[in-house]
Amino acid sequence: MSSKSDMQSLMNRYGIVGRNEALREALATAVLVAPTDLSVLIQGESGVGKEVIPRIIHDHSKRKSKTYIAINCGSIPEGTIDSELFGHEKGAFTSAIGEHEGYFGAADGGTLFLDEVGELPLSTQARLLRVLETGEYLRVGSSTPRKTDVRIVAATNVDIPNAIKQGRFREDLYYRLCTINIKIPPLRKRQGDAVLLFKKFAMDTAERYNIPEPIRLTPEAEAVVNSYKWPGNIRQLRNITEQLSILSESRSITPEVLAKHGITPNSDADTGIATIAGSNSSGTQHDYEQEIKILAHAVFELRSEVQELKEKLQGNNAWHETPASTTMPVHVSTQKNTSPSAHTYHTLPGNKHVQPLELDIPNAEEIVDDDTLNIGDMEKRNILLALQRNHYKRKLAAEELGISERTLYRKIKAYGIDE
Ligand SMILES: Nc1ncnc2c1ncn2[C@@H]1O[C@H](COP(=O)(O)OP(=O)(O)OP(=O)(O)O)[C@@H](O)[C@H]1O
Ligand SMILES: [Mg+2]
Repeated sequence: MSSKSDMQSLMNRYGIVGRNEALREALATAVLVAPTDLSVLIQGESGVGKEVIPRIIHDHSKRKSKTYIAINCGSIPEGTIDSELFGHEKGAFTSAIGEHEGYFGAADGGTLFLDEVGELPLSTQARLLRVLETGEYLRVGSSTPRKTDVRIVAATNVDIPNAIKQGRFREDLYYRLCTINIKIPPLRKRQGDAVLLFKKFAMDTAERYNIPEPIRLTPEAEAVVNSYKWPGNIRQLRNITEQLSILSESRSITPEVLAKHGITPNSDADTGIATIAGSNSSGTQHDYEQEIKILAHAVFELRSEVQELKEKLQGNNAWHETPASTTMPVHVSTQKNTSPSAHTYHTLPGNKHVQPLELDIPNAEEIVDDDTLNIGDMEKRNILLALQRNHYKRKLAAEELGISERTLYRKIKAYGIDE
């Protein structure tokens, strides 16, 4: 990056805010390595802003007019991930009625962003290593190698060296992926950036929801925002700012208002879910929260069992889990169902769309009557609350919900919670 103004225009173009030197260095490295074909590994805690880096790399590379595909490796079921990535031949398994190109074929000439790469199953890691080393891959059900010219950018919030020690990640793949290593610093290490980001998100929210006046921090509240640890990083800050923008009657945010959301000086304490959820701290509301939590937990468990059963029944068959399609009727209230449509959990921001594998799974909504609780809404709300309670750390939220991280990723994408 040749000058300060180049950096500023890059940041403006991608909506990135911050004065932190380490962040700016990370952005400069992305631009610097973009014209090469070197693999890049982006590391950083959850919510620090890793996802913009691969886009910057692609847009500044000679591949910019070609396909860019972003895949969340954590959101694809283990049973189908190989065929999603590498494609399959007709008849490779029972439901493979046609051939499938796969992302490595579809991204030929372009860039493939493997987000949450630490979630890849070991067998898929072996396939990935092969394509990185030889530029060749095998479709599932084929022994004929295919060539592809794909630039790989990967990201992870997992401590990969630790995952290697635990036998969950291949060491050789790690070194192959991180030819270039870009580390994004946590928000607590970017002195002063939290307040700048608060202002940006307050303005964005006001604009998006036609709020006449954006919220602003009092000088005392600025000090709190600066000293708070932000364990969920920028995602947490963005969500809190959005919630305050909508819920706070006063446009002036004081330390007292922040404290109600668990944002207190020098702390990384609870984020005050009662206020966020639109309830208060009275006993009744609390009980209601508890009931919802217990009920939703039971539904999660039920769903996991249903999913396992389906996977067992279908063996190697490829299918996508769709929360809407596995909705179970529970008679509690009369809300209408607004569950998301199928196949929304991994998007392809590029110019090419790869059809996910499909299998016709009966939609339980069809058997839901008017007295049925909208489990989709309830589940979405419960996920949101668990994420807030755990500072947007998906791992901890998944543990609290009693589901795997992989399942949580899928549900977050399916319900559009991360948007
Ligand atoms: N410097 C920044 N300026 C403005 N917005 C930012 C910045 N960094 C991150 N964001 C926003 O914060 C949110 C979280 O960022 P992102 O999704 O990239 O996190 P992540 O590092 O991929 O986290 P995870 O590991 O949990 O997936 C996004 O909405 C992103 O646009
Ligand atoms: Mg991410």
